[in-house]
Amino acid sequence: MYTISDLQKIVEKELAKQDYIVEPANLYRPIDYVMGMGGKRIRPTLCLAGCYLFDDDIQNALNPGLSLEIFHNFTLLHDDIMDKADVRRNQPTVHKKWDENTAILSGDAMLIKAYQYATLTDARFLKKVLDLFSQTAIEVCEGQQYDMEFEHRDDVKVDDYLTMIRLKTAVLLAASLKTGAIVGGASDKNADLLYEFGENIGLAFQLQDDFLDVYGNIDTFGKAIGGDIVANKKTFLLLNALQLASGSLRDDLLHWINAETFNSDEKIEAVRNIYNTLEVDALAKDKMGFYFDKAINALNQVDGRETMKDELRKFAMQLIERSR
Ligand code: IPE
Ligand code: IPE
Ligand code: MG
Ligand code: MG
Ligand code: MG
Repeated sequence: MYTISDLQKIVEKELAKQDYIVEPANLYRPIDYVMGMGGKRIRPTLCLAGCYLFDDDIQNALNPGLSLEIFHNFTLLHDDIMDKADVRRNQPTVHKKWDENTAILSGDAMLIKAYQYATLTDARFLKKVLDLFSQTAIEVCEGQQYDMEFEHRDDVKVDDYLTMIRLKTAVLLAASLKTGAIVGGASDKNADLLYEFGENIGLAFQLQDDFLDVYGNIDTFGKAIGGDIVANKKTFLLLNALQLASGSLRDDLLHWINAETFNSDEKIEAVRNIYNTLEVDALAKDKMGFYFDKAINALNQVDGRETMKDELRKFAMQLIERSR
């Protein structure tokens, strides 16, 4: 019997076996770097778990799982350029260690590699897996586009934000589980319920990522703190603060959002204080709880191995309470 932790170890072992570097080395070294710099490996682990719910043999989930992890890391290379992020997993991002053009091109190669791994999927499941992969990948792009556009908009609603994070983050977690379910031979109904579980966990997961961007510890989180505040990312915290703030607090918040030149640390500190005064952190935690409950409700209806369902409940809880 496998636990989630067993599956994580299997993922690490499979990843360690991959050799990415051929000529030209400057295209492939950044891939090896980002794939080797750690990360929680959530997506391939969920893929294996999705499979193991329905099949004792998880072999068929390995290649699609690797494909999802490579795709995820590709999105990070481009995301870090877009977000001007210098540090990830406590190390310099690819566009800092090399340069932006390298990060763009190595990212492109990773997207293609992700497809190559996906096409190694057992022929019986290949079309379903590839269709889901393509649909998900295009949705991630849509989410990332909204994320960027929202930085410059002042009419973003909480519902817009939720749509945006569903696209940029939640669908990939959902697809990871569903891919596993597909190659595990699950019924469409079970595969869709698992997708629903992943989607709701994914929403809570991105809410926590936004929370940690403000309240996390840099060494544990592995990314710079306050990047979302500096960039005026329309996070759940900011949107709620904009809704709740009045009087001088509102003036202060708008001043920082509209400031063209500012000291980053001062802005982060000031906006965090406004969040604290308005207690929007508690609202974010409530919302995470809401999506967690929805997720568990979907998982409960899945007709699969009960011990793995239990593992997934625990894992989902850890993802939401995580500090990294
Ligand atoms: C980071 O994802 C990007 C988001 C969707 C928030 P993870 O938090 O899964 O990143 P790693 O792979 O563990 O570093
Ligand atoms: C990540 O959103 C979404 C994708 C990478 C697709 P963020 O921009 O919040 O992720 P981090 O915080 O940089 O990991
Ligand atoms: Mg981003
Ligand atoms: Mg980012
Ligand atoms: Mg973030």
